[in-house]
Amino acid sequence: MTTNTVLFTPAGHAALVSAYPALPCGLNHGLVGHPLLTRAALEELAASLPASHVEHSIGDVPVNQDPSATKVVPLTAADVVRTIDTNRCWMVMKKVEHVPAYARLLDALLADIANLVIPLTGPIVRPESFVFLSAPNSVTPFHMDPEHNILLQIEGGKTMNVYPADSTEMVPQEAHEAFHRGAHRNLVHRDAFEAQARPFAMQPGDAVYVPVKAPHWVQNGPEVSISFSVTWRSRLSDGEARLHLVNHQLRKLGLQPALPGQSPLADQAKVSAHRGFKAVTHGIKRALGKQPDRTAY
Ligand SMILES: [Fe+2]
Repeated sequence: MTTNTVLFTPAGHAALVSAYPALPCGLNHGLVGHPLLTRAALEELAASLPASHVEHSIGDVPVNQDPSATKVVPLTAADVVRTIDTNRCWMVMKKVEHVPAYARLLDALLADIANLVIPLTGPIVRPESFVFLSAPNSVTPFHMDPEHNILLQIEGGKTMNVYPADSTEMVPQEAHEAFHRGAHRNLVHRDAFEAQARPFAMQPGDAVYVPVKAPHWVQNGPEVSISFSVTWRSRLSDGEARLHLVNHQLRKLGLQPALPGQSPLADQAKVSAHRGFKAVTHGIKRALGKQPDRTAY
């Protein structure tokens, strides 16, 4: 990356400040043509990542996609990149910061917005970056993700349809609780939700901020699409996840936990109790020479 690479534009910074953390917004970036994001570089990246960092499947699927019905084409990750014009695939390369050059790019992008987001949601933790490649006209089904996310469009066009993160009609509390305990990210989309969609038509140079667990689905344009995504967790996302895990335990005891936000003091007490409990159990496991549980959030 050269010293004069524009990461997010000043207008993008202003948009993020006005929306973060609860609302989606459009931004602009200067990474189109970046040497780490060309098809040749991505083919090399695909060949160098562990298999666990790559997921790909047939991309012409409905908005409502049963994850167990996903079809996978028997291609290597590098082959998926090389033949993306014709293979009908959708692919994500996860945690690409595994490769130091991509770690530097992720760090630079997050440093560019750190002073905007940290005052609102606390320190940036668990930063991760992803590359998405999709064949012409692919669909990414309706789903939610656990992180703050900025998706940067690098090649081709797509429409990101982003929905409110706080709709219990779209995502009931039990679905949030299951998600944080490892359930699949895909959600059921209904026609009645459509009026609440906020579509972002993206071309190279555009970016979209997607709030934590805001449901979304993606319609690819008629060309190959390449996107780069930077994500992070925060005190806010961590607390929200812990709250749902505590509520799940209360529900198992036959109680009906209040909706998050109904009682902020009770929410805070639940989150603090969960943090304290986990600190103790992790300390005991370490003292016994065991690996603490990998938390789901
Ligand atoms: Fe997503």
